[in-house]
Amino acid sequence: MPSSAFPSWLECLTCSRKYDLGKVRYTCDCGGLLDLKRDLGKADGRKLVSLWEKRWGLKSGVESSGVWRYRELILDVPDSKIITKQEGNTRLYPAGRAGKYAGIKNFLLKHEGENPTGSFKDRGMTCGITAAGIYNAKCVACASTGNTSASMAAYAATAGIKSVIFIPSGKIAYGKLAQALAYGGLTLQIDGNFDDAMTLVQEICGKLNIYLLNSINPFRIEGQKAICFEILQQLDWKVPDWFVIPGGNLGNNSAFSKALMELHELGIIDKIPRIAVIQASGANPLYTMWKNNKPFAPVKNPETIATAIKIGNPVSWEKSLRGIKWSNGVVEQVTEQEIMDAKAMVDAAGIGAEPASCCSVAGAKKLVEAGIISKDESVVGILTGNVLKDPDAVINYHTDQLKNIKGTFANSPKSIKATLEAVKAAL
Ligand code: F0G
Repeated sequence: MPSSAFPSWLECLTCSRKYDLGKVRYTCDCGGLLDLKRDLGKADGRKLVSLWEKRWGLKSGVESSGVWRYRELILDVPDSKIITKQEGNTRLYPAGRAGKYAGIKNFLLKHEGENPTGSFKDRGMTCGITAAGIYNAKCVACASTGNTSASMAAYAATAGIKSVIFIPSGKIAYGKLAQALAYGGLTLQIDGNFDDAMTLVQEICGKLNIYLLNSINPFRIEGQKAICFEILQQLDWKVPDWFVIPGGNLGNNSAFSKALMELHELGIIDKIPRIAVIQASGANPLYTMWKNNKPFAPVKNPETIATAIKIGNPVSWEKSLRGIKWSNGVVEQVTEQEIMDAKAMVDAAGIGAEPASCCSVAGAKKLVEAGIISKDESVVGILTGNVLKDPDAVINYHTDQLKNIKGTFANSPKSIKATLEAVKAAL
C-alpha cells in the first residue's frame, strides 16, 4: 500500500470524505476528485531542504531521479518498488529570443521535453506506474493526446506491465504515435476525440480491473509536483513572481499549486507565485469559465494545432481552479497564430518545443501586453514537450502550408544547384 513519509490519505475535493490508501480509488463516491493529503504537522522544512540538496547531482540510485529526490513529498515506497528512468533533472534555460519576444527581462524556460520520453508526463508516470506495481496491477491504461501514452508505454515496458492506450484516431502527433507503438503499448485508435477516449477508458478500467493512469489518478499528480520542486531548487528556493503553464486536461498546473501549497505549509517558501494557465482558444473551457465568471461547461468540438491540449472537457478543472484562486493566478487563451509564432521564437532561440508547450510563451507575451505581468517581474514558463514530437507542425509552418496560420517567422528550405556559385548566392 503506497503512502507518504508522513501519515497520508485520499481526500475528496468536493465533500472532504477521506479514504485510506489500501484500495485502488480514483474518485470519491460523490464523484469528486481526490487529493493525496499528508499530515505535515511534524515535518521539518529545513531538514527536508538539506536532504534534497544533498541528493542533488547523485549519479545513480532512485534519488538521482528528479522526482524521487523529493520522495518525502511524493510517495513512501522502498527503493526496490520504484520504477524510474532518472526522469526530471531538466534544464532551466534563459528564454533568450523568446524572452525578448514576450517582452520579459527575467524569463526562464523549464524544458520538460528533456525527460526520457520527451515530455513532462514522465514525472507523474514514474509515480503512477510505481503505484500500479504496489497495487499489483497486471495492466495499465490511459486516454491520451499522445504524450501520456508514450510515457505510460515506456514505463509499463520497464515495469513489465501490459499497457493499453486509447487515442483519438488520426489526431495525435506522429512522434507520439510512433513512441506508443515502439514501446509496445496496445494502441487503440478510437473513433472520437480525446474527451470520448477519456470517458471510455474510465469505464473500461472500472469494469475490467485495469489500473487507470490518467492524471485523474492522484499518484500521477504527486509525481508531477516535482517539476515545481526542481525549478525552485534550481533557483535556490527563491520564488519567481509567475509560473506560466499550458493547460489541457489541467493536471499539470494542479500539481504545481499542490506542490506550492505543501512547500508553503512546510515554511520552505513564504512567497506564493502567481500561476497563469494558458489554453488554446479552440479548446478553452477553463478560460471561458474564468473570463465570464460562469459555471464550467465543456467545449464540444475542441480544435487546435496544439493537439496535445485539444481537450474540451478536462477532468481536473476543479483542482486547477482551486490552485489558480489560491495563487491569485489567471487564465489566458492564445490563438493558433500566437501559438505557432511563439513556437518559432522558442525554436529559433535554440531551445525548441512542441506547439502546446509554446502556449506558455505566447500566453506570457499576451499577459505582458495586457499589463497583468509586468516587464520587470520574474517569470518561469514551462515547456512541456520536445520539438521532435510534432515535426509536421514545424515543417508546415516553415513552408507556409498551414491552413489559416501564416509562417510569420518561416525559415523555409531552399533548393539549389550543387555548385559554389549557387551556395554563394544562397548565403
Ligand atoms: N503540453 C503537452 C505537451 C501535453 O502533452 C499536455 C497534455 C499538456 C501540455 C497539458 O497538460 O493536461 O496537465 O493540462 N497532454 C495529455 C496527454 C493530455 O494525453 O498527453 P495538462
